[in-house]
Amino acid sequence: MQLAALEKYRLLISAEEFLALQAELEKPLVGALRVNPQKANPDEMIPAWADRYGWSLRAVPYCPTGWWLDKTELPPSQTPEHRMGFYYLQDAASMLPVELFDFEPGETPLVLDMAASPGGKTTHLLDRMADQGLVMANDSSASRIQALRVVLANWGAVSGAVTNFPGEKFGAWFPETFDRVLLDAPCSMENLRSTESHPMRPITNRERLALADRQVRLLVSALQAVRVGGQVVYSTCTLAPEEDEGVLDAVLTRYGRAVQLDDMNERLRASAPGLRQVGELAYHPDVVRAARLFPHRLGTSGFFAARLTKTDSILGEQEQIPARSLTRAGWQPVPDVVVREQAESLLQKYGLDIAGKVSGGNLVFWQNGDSVILAPAMYFNRFGEFPVQMLGLLFAEQTPSGWEITHQAAARYWREIQSGKILLDFDQVNAWQRGENLSLRISILPAGQVAMLTDSWGRYLGRGRITSRGVKNLLPRRVIY
Ligand SMILES: C[S@@+](CC[C@H](N)C(=O)[O-])C[C@H]1O[C@@H](n2cnc3c(N)ncnc32)[C@H](O)[C@@H]1O
Repeated sequence: MQLAALEKYRLLISAEEFLALQAELEKPLVGALRVNPQKANPDEMIPAWADRYGWSLRAVPYCPTGWWLDKTELPPSQTPEHRMGFYYLQDAASMLPVELFDFEPGETPLVLDMAASPGGKTTHLLDRMADQGLVMANDSSASRIQALRVVLANWGAVSGAVTNFPGEKFGAWFPETFDRVLLDAPCSMENLRSTESHPMRPITNRERLALADRQVRLLVSALQAVRVGGQVVYSTCTLAPEEDEGVLDAVLTRYGRAVQLDDMNERLRASAPGLRQVGELAYHPDVVRAARLFPHRLGTSGFFAARLTKTDSILGEQEQIPARSLTRAGWQPVPDVVVREQAESLLQKYGLDIAGKVSGGNLVFWQNGDSVILAPAMYFNRFGEFPVQMLGLLFAEQTPSGWEITHQAAARYWREIQSGKILLDFDQVNAWQRGENLSLRISILPAGQVAMLTDSWGRYLGRGRITSRGVKNLLPRRVIY
């Protein structure tokens, strides 16, 4: 089936290139990871992981936080750092679209990720924005929202909001609103590299047309939702021209006066232009400015990405925005006096300064029952009551003795945590990672306190509660081996 899909590309590239493509597909795809810069400094951690886990790494040329894993003694999916969200396993091609956006240092942008689940590119967007501003991560599929929530919680970013609506609606609800919009569109996944998460299957012409039609509608909505001067990145994990250059051609033909396609080949540091001609069909001349990653170009899966800048207004009909107040659902802002009190307690226990995190006004603490979130103020200022499935980071649980910092917040702020730690030896680490409690005599911390577990490498290994018998394991089930 892969071969049948491959045959149609013979006519689209030179004979020499086609041979190179065939040869590339004989080789296994080299996996890659993207470092979470909020949790780890790549300059320090890439050499440390290479040494610790027997990895041989090679930088992805267009993504400063991305590395190919040429050789691994310990699989990268099996380290505590992976489970704690210190890096994300992602095909190098999927690192391209977010790198196509320009972000200014110190900017607090408003970004829409229109088709976001499971969230790989959302985490990348949050990193590029230094976790400032707001990323609205939307997906229309209710069943895929949970995966998005898990990925974002594990990444530990504070500036995300998850929503569950058809992307087609955003143009009519929020015209000319967002600074950037990513549309990583639902597609036929004809990337010439079948994997478990991206299986290739035959696509009928009818399906292809329906996909292309939806892609155009989503891209028009994205172009309406972005402000004049803002950027939209359109990407797919298919090489089918109908879903790539064909979609760009449709919007350029319709909105060419208000949209410009930016040249991305320089950004890519490789020549991978879009296709101007497919058989008898000639596309808009600007489509060559897109990046078409045939697998042999950079040793990735097949992928397509293009950046559009909006130069003039594109307005459609406006529609009433859905509303559901967080306050009516039981959420309340945490009063300043309570934040100050809890900040003092967390400073005492862990040396962690949370008062500083909300002092700039970009972040706020909200509470509902026992759950305390650290959330982007921009959501409340700009969207008020737009229904969200998840907002910011679940920061703490309210207990009778005050706020208890959550696992995801401890992982996120690990580098800032100075005290309240317990150092484990090799055997204890193994038992701990299997989810076992440890019988240790802890005299330096009071019974009942939540301690942070670590080892001689300084890794974050989760939280444990001090008891009279030792340390109770509080690792979430999903991070237990
Ligand atoms: C290619 S996947 C996105 C992958 C994601 N960006 C990532 O990097 O992890 C496409 C997503 O589009 C969603 N989707 C399909 N139709 C949609 C629509 N009309 N509006 C919004 N999302 C849609 C699918 O549920 C799917 O999760």
